[in-house]
Amino acid sequence: MKKPDNIRLSEDGRSLIILDQTRLPGETVYLELNSREQLFEAILKLRVRGAPAIGIAAAYGYYLCALENSEREDFFRCMDDAERYLASSRPTAVNLTWALGRMRQTLKRNALLPREELIESLRLEAEAIQAEDIESNIRISENALPLIKDGMGILTHCNAGALATSCYGTALGPMLLAHERGMKIHVYADETRPLLQGARLTAYELMREGIDVTLICDNAANQVMKEGRISAVFVGCDRAARNGDAANKIGTSGLAVLAAYYRIPFYMFAPLSTVDMDTANGSGIKIEERAPEEVTELMFSRRMAPEGVSVYNPAFDVVEHELITGIVTEEGIITAPFEENFTAAFERKKARTEKTDAFDK
Ligand code: MRU
Repeated sequence: MKKPDNIRLSEDGRSLIILDQTRLPGETVYLELNSREQLFEAILKLRVRGAPAIGIAAAYGYYLCALENSEREDFFRCMDDAERYLASSRPTAVNLTWALGRMRQTLKRNALLPREELIESLRLEAEAIQAEDIESNIRISENALPLIKDGMGILTHCNAGALATSCYGTALGPMLLAHERGMKIHVYADETRPLLQGARLTAYELMREGIDVTLICDNAANQVMKEGRISAVFVGCDRAARNGDAANKIGTSGLAVLAAYYRIPFYMFAPLSTVDMDTANGSGIKIEERAPEEVTELMFSRRMAPEGVSVYNPAFDVVEHELITGIVTEEGIITAPFEENFTAAFERKKARTEKTDAFDK
């Protein structure tokens, strides 16, 4: 699979180039972002979206803010403001605050370096976050490969593919890998109302790779499960709490309930950067509420609902850990008891990266 070119610095390293996901699949448009306001807008409007991709974009954005303000006397205060501002663009995906936290730590660690070297260390950290995401995508895909059997039908929701990350994606990763290795699978993609990430992005990504994909309306999921077409559900994740409750695109928790009823394994996919050990359970996860126009207007272009109708438009929901068969991470498939097994996974990752660092020296 060709790696997506969805987030990168410009040649001169002074702006961020992103693929505008709101224009896909019809148009391939790249945007050059030069200010923190533009980046904020791009995250808020889902031009760059998907938990890992948001984190990577924000990390580069933080570096660009440092570059722009490097001469200011109140540089460090300015960076605190930039962090708060970027972090407020979307509340649910923890990768955003996780990546910004890493950038802040790098800033603090290198605060006494000459300004140019400090800025360079921030660029390197943003690049490291992106490189680690690529590595996690590959490991997640390999770890989930044994869950895939030739000929099976898999249901997915929203888009947890290459566009949402920097490589294979998370939930779509093992599907791409299975396909590359000659297995035949059939993917059912929920359209994912209201912004149609499934119809616009998942269907596009899978078709481009030559994987059989059938697009269904969100409310057809029950029917395709009842007809026996689905052997597993694979979905992404925006934030997993310590106890394993995990948020993903609105509609995911309903799928988990259906999967439990039909006894279909339900897997969520999350790099450890999506696991938030500071949040005890799903009730502590802030659910983003988005503009009513996303529901009342067809892709903001034609009104479908009566003027003045009241709208509730939560963007995510939380799957109770009891309904999750496993959460696939770069350190293996985590099953209950989640807290204990997440802790062990973080320890494995730490030991593995320390070993690689020592080897690199
Ligand atoms: O609102 P979105 O499109 O950013 O929501 C994205 C999802 O819910 C994805 O499933 C999740 O971020 C995982 S992406 C690897």
